[in-house]
Amino acid sequence: MALLDIKDIDVSYGKQLTVKDCSIELGEGRICSVVGESGSGKTTVIRAVLGLLPGGGKVTKGDIVYDGRSLLNLNKKEWRALRGHDISMIFQDSGAMMNQTRLIGASFAECIRTHENTSKADAWKKGAEMLSRMRLPDPERIMHSYPFQLSGGMRQRVGIAMGMTYQPKLLLADEPTSALDVTTQAQIVRQMMTLRDEYGTSIIIVTHDIGVAAYMADHVVVMKDGRIEDQGDRDHILNHSENEYTRRLIAAVPSLGGKRYV
Ligand SMILES: Nc1ncnc2c1ncn2[C@@H]1O[C@H](COP(=O)(O)OP(=O)(O)OP(=O)(O)O)[C@@H](O)[C@H]1O
Ligand SMILES: [Mg+2]
Repeated sequence: MALLDIKDIDVSYGKQLTVKDCSIELGEGRICSVVGESGSGKTTVIRAVLGLLPGGGKVTKGDIVYDGRSLLNLNKKEWRALRGHDISMIFQDSGAMMNQTRLIGASFAECIRTHENTSKADAWKKGAEMLSRMRLPDPERIMHSYPFQLSGGMRQRVGIAMGMTYQPKLLLADEPTSALDVTTQAQIVRQMMTLRDEYGTSIIIVTHDIGVAAYMADHVVVMKDGRIEDQGDRDHILNHSENEYTRRLIAAVPSLGGKRYV
């Protein structure tokens, strides 16, 4: 049984049908990349899985099944238990999602305390350990910083460390590297791969960067105008797809294969 089974969903914003007939299956420890031009519906699919569609957004057909249970009708309490624990997410700019007026350590400890009955001091310690395990330099200094005092890349890495605290079974990442320089990009790609290799985390990563998709993914999904245009295993999609759109998308990336992430 797949860990995540997106079954033929439609997603609408108000009356506007935005994503149509979308099906993606993700097994344990597998990495799926979703690629496609701007506006094709990639973020909409990720948000639908997380139950985080913005106002007016709704899954109007199909089902999303995680570990044998539908995610479509969970209540707030059930989501709180699942999100950040079994299922984690990383966005393009995790820093922007953080509370700017609180120390990173205070936010991190609070997040830990929603999942564990533990003292503030112990939660703080666990947070610092997590940063150090993710190889962030000088964790205590980071814990005592406000988000705006860190670089964008640092903030992103802190966001990822937070998302990885509970070794989620499923990680959903929406363009986690696109705002970063190549070196930081590579660190983050490696960090995600480590999570998969060490803990068997399944990952869906939305990316504009076919190089990242080529490096990370077992399975690639190509979206166009709210539909899945093409999907299959990485080698097939990148090298042997007969789909005209897929071929053009890949041909438009001159650096494919030339980029190195390790
Ligand atoms: N909150 C919203 N209300 C109404 N329409 C929306 C909303 N969010 C997105 N859309 C529309 O849904 C479509 C898909 O958007 P989505 O953000 O999923 O695309 P995307 O593939 O993630 O694009 P990008 O690569 O630019 O991030 C677009 O036409 C967009 O205008
Ligand atoms: Mg998007």
